[in-house]
Amino acid sequence: MQRILKKVIPRVIKQKLKETRFFEHKAVADLAVTSKRIDICSAQMAHILHLSKHAPLEGKVCLEIGAGWVLTHALVCYLLGAKKVIATDVVPIAQPDTLFLALRDAIVSIPRDVLAPFSDHARIRERYDNLLSYSEFSFDTLKELGIEYLSPIDLASEKIDIPVDFIYSNSVLEHVPVDDVPSLLNNLADNLNDGGTMIHCIHLEDHQDIGGDPFNFLSIHAGRFTPTLQSNRGNRIRCAQWAKLFDDLKGSNTDFIYRYSRLEKPLPEMIDSSISYIDEEDLRVSHIGVYTRKEK
Ligand SMILES: C[S@@+](CC[C@H](N)C(=O)[O-])C[C@H]1O[C@@H](n2cnc3c(N)ncnc32)[C@H](O)[C@@H]1O
Repeated sequence: MQRILKKVIPRVIKQKLKETRFFEHKAVADLAVTSKRIDICSAQMAHILHLSKHAPLEGKVCLEIGAGWVLTHALVCYLLGAKKVIATDVVPIAQPDTLFLALRDAIVSIPRDVLAPFSDHARIRERYDNLLSYSEFSFDTLKELGIEYLSPIDLASEKIDIPVDFIYSNSVLEHVPVDDVPSLLNNLADNLNDGGTMIHCIHLEDHQDIGGDPFNFLSIHAGRFTPTLQSNRGNRIRCAQWAKLFDDLKGSNTDFIYRYSRLEKPLPEMIDSSISYIDEEDLRVSHIGVYTRKEK
């Protein structure tokens, strides 16, 4: 029946329907039971904490950039014992009610087990049970957990008003227009306490064609690759240029905790002259994890 309806409804009407609040909420709910499920986000966080040999976040102030629609990573910081979590975004898109779904479909033992090396198993269980005791989530209930949602805020043009110990982002920095990236990174570094750290997971492929031709966008002339396209498809900053941008931050040290490449996909014959890169290997990097430590 659904398939027949899909065929019968004209495309413009389908588009209009998609734009309605109902469909938007459904898409966010789908995220909450898939990539934003709390066991999956706990595994992601544990992975980068292991790779960076990170100290526990217990009692720390955490800042998330581009927190998105489902604030699960903020809940993971709560499970890890963070004193305060500030989840930010350039547009206010978070739907806290969907966190109920992110918990409902998760395997309860996974967050406890994978996060235990960075906290205490019994304390994580207590905190997880506390999350399960909520029948619904709102921005007010998040505040009770020490999670504050701050949006809209563009951290390329302003800083937050308290220093933080840990900054995290997942699939965000590649959406920031090229010209805004240096000021964003500088503001974030300034917001860090001495000895503070940040981890950014950055995805370097064309977000509009990840499965097909993920590097072809590197050929588009800069004049046509507007800030809006940079936000939607990825800003095209390559791996070595990211290394340079982070190395330019004064008083801090940066390493990659992972760097993955796609060797099976073609590169375009022409790379636009605005794109800074070293060699083919640099162009082919598809995902990086960047770990920055501010000196004490
Ligand atoms: C692919 S989503 C990732 C959301 C979330 N981090 C996650 O893991 O599900 C990209 C996020 O980056 C945010 N974003 C886009 N441009 C940004 C900017 N200039 N500064 C901060 N966040 C931005 C979007 O609003 C969105 O929340």
